[in-house]
Parts: sequence; C-alpha cells; structure tokens
Amino acid sequence: MLQNFGVAITGSGSAVPTNSLSNQVLSQLVETSDEWIATRTGIRSRRLAAANDSLQAIATQASLQAIVMAGITPPDIDLIILATSTPDDLFGSACQIQAALGATQAVAFDMTAACSGFVFGLVTAAQYIRTGVYQNILLIGADILSRWVDWEDRRTCVLFGDGAGAVVMQATKRDRLLGFELKSDGTQNQCLNLAYSPQPQPLINEIDVAKGNYQPITMNGKEVYRFAVQRVPEVIDKALFRANLKVEQIDWLLLHQANQRILDAVAERLHIPNHKVISNLAYHGNTSAASIPLALDEAVRAGKIKPGDIIATSGFGAGLTWGAAIFEWGTDKPDPNY
Ligand code: ACO
Repeated sequence: MLQNFGVAITGSGSAVPTNSLSNQVLSQLVETSDEWIATRTGIRSRRLAAANDSLQAIATQASLQAIVMAGITPPDIDLIILATSTPDDLFGSACQIQAALGATQAVAFDMTAACSGFVFGLVTAAQYIRTGVYQNILLIGADILSRWVDWEDRRTCVLFGDGAGAVVMQATKRDRLLGFELKSDGTQNQCLNLAYSPQPQPLINEIDVAKGNYQPITMNGKEVYRFAVQRVPEVIDKALFRANLKVEQIDWLLLHQANQRILDAVAERLHIPNHKVISNLAYHGNTSAASIPLALDEAVRAGKIKPGDIIATSGFGAGLTWGAAIFEWGTDKPDPNY
C-alpha cells in the first residue's frame, strides 16, 4: 500500500484591505517623509483595515483562493491553522474562518509566533501530515497590526500594514518540505512587544483582578535589525544542511517582509543574487504573519514561482522567534502517487 506521508504545498491565496496609506499621506500624521521611509525600509505604502474590516474576512478570502488553486473544496479540509497575533477574538479566530468557509470536517485553532507564525505553522502542519493524521491542511497567516500601532510613534507606525495569505498543504508520496529549523530566545523578549498592561481593580476583601489593556507595539529597531541580519542566514544555512542542498540550488529567497535592508543584507550574507529575492514591501509594508504567504501568492500568480521551484523561506520577529524552511513549490500534477 502506498503511504502518503510527504508534504506538498499545492495552493496559495491572499487578500488585503482596500484602504491604502502612502508615505506622503502618512507624513501628514507624524514627522517623517517618503524619502526617509523608503530609504530606511523600502516601504512606499501599506493597506490598512477599516473599522468594518475583519481578520476573519480577509483570511477567509485568501483561504478560498488557496483552496481553489489546490483543487479541493472546504469540506475536504482536515485542519485549519491560523497564524496570527491579532485575532478578532482573543479566544481565537480560526473557528470563525472554519464556519465562514464551510469547512465542516476541519478542526481549527490559532497559533501565535508573531512574524515567525507562518514558518512555525508550516512546520507544525507538516507534522500532522508526516504522522499520517491529516491529508489536507489549510495554513493561514493573517494580521491586522494597524489595530495595535501607536499612530503617534514614527519609529513604528511607518513599518506595518495589514493582510492575509494562505496555503493548502496536502499529503503526497514525495516529501517537498526538504528541511527546516526553528528557534526561540525569550531572553530578548523586550525587543518587540505588544504587551498587556494590568490595572488592578479591587473586587472584594483583599482580592483584586487585572482589568487592563494591550499597549501599542514597542520595538527596539536597531536590536531587531541586528538580530535578523545575524540569525536569519544561520537558520537558513541549517535548514539547507538538513535538506542536503547548497545555497546555489535555491530558486527563491522568500523572507518575512520586515524591511528591504534586512532582505538585502541576508541575501548578501548568503551570496544569493537580487533577482532571486522576493519582495513586496514597497506596497504592503510589514504584514507580520501574513507577509510570507502574501508574497508567495503574488509571486505564484505572477508566474515567477513555478511548480518544482525550491524556496528558502524564513520568518523572524517577536518572541524573539525565528525559523527557516526549505520547500519545493507545488506538485508535478498529476502526481501518480497521490
Ligand atoms: N521618519 C523620520 N525620522 C525617523 C523616523 C521616521 N519614521 N523614525 C525614526 N526617525 C529618526 C529617529 O528619531 C532618529 O533621530 P535622532 O538621531 O535625531 O534621534 C533617527 O531617525 C535614527 O533613528 P533610528 O531608530 O536609529 O533609525 P534606524 O536607522 O535604526 O532605522 C528602522 C529605524 C528602520 C526601524 C531600523 O532600525 C530597522 O530597520 N530595524 C529593523 C526592525 C524592523 O524591521 N522591524 C519591523 C518589525 S519587527 C519584525 O517584523 C521582525
């Protein structure tokens, strides 16, 4: 009997809110300029969710596209993993997406690993396939960080945008997840936070409870920059080693879209030429967990990434967390072993 315990990524989709905020318009809000933002980050504009937009809506839209591309239907899905730090509901938004899709057979849960969420989710989903538990998994990366940005802080508000991306991962004979490596370092947690700030509320007798709120994003930009440029090449090297591949065999470098200078520095350290580096920062900014599947989907739909191409992807961010995965895009359909 053939056993389909290998992983293939067979569909992608993406969605962003309608509203677009250019650097020029942002310059009316805080003391900054298109020139400063573009030269330091590569960002020119970003999409922002309006009050009547929801994470569930853009995540569902991205998911439907991925499901159609994979050639399956929502009831075929066994598991939905939503990588996000900004759910519509702190109890989780994955089940709302399950309902909106009509993915009646799927178990659904949220997963939080900030900007590393998609790569951590990819590896997590792969374990369910490799152990033979599930055959069709929907992995979503989606974030609406604009809800948590301090729009008076020019050091952070220029960086972020909102969006969603999704992939379908399927069980197949030949494993296309070729290697991965994941890392965490909580000792550097203070570099990047969206923290809860408790305010005591007396309840009764000696007992009080914390009725606070989440505070806007804080970031030590220089530390995060140093961390990313040092750690990301290391983790990609390790994933390549596990995949038994050389850096020259990579067709595309698909990094978390945090900052063009980070993309350039990582590519340079790995000796990967610019034409292999995927970037959509200019018009999306940093969309956190959405950035990798959003850039992947755009590159697939533009005909850049083709079935069989080898992609080195890496997510990095709050936690601190970072990780890399090397995978082959798509399947050589029809796959006789599937
Ligand atoms: N417009 C104009 N001036 C600004 C702005 C702005 N938007 N932001 C900061 N400045 C000023 C500062 O006030 C400072 O002025 P000063 O010298 O008079 O005090 C000067 O520019 C330099 O500030 P730095 O913070 O040192 O700027 P830096 O060159 O480090 O660039 C940046 C900031 C772009 C955030 C950089 O540190 C960086 O790329 N960090 C990586 C972090 C990152 O990309 N985070 C994304 C989210 S995290 C993630 O996804 C991993």
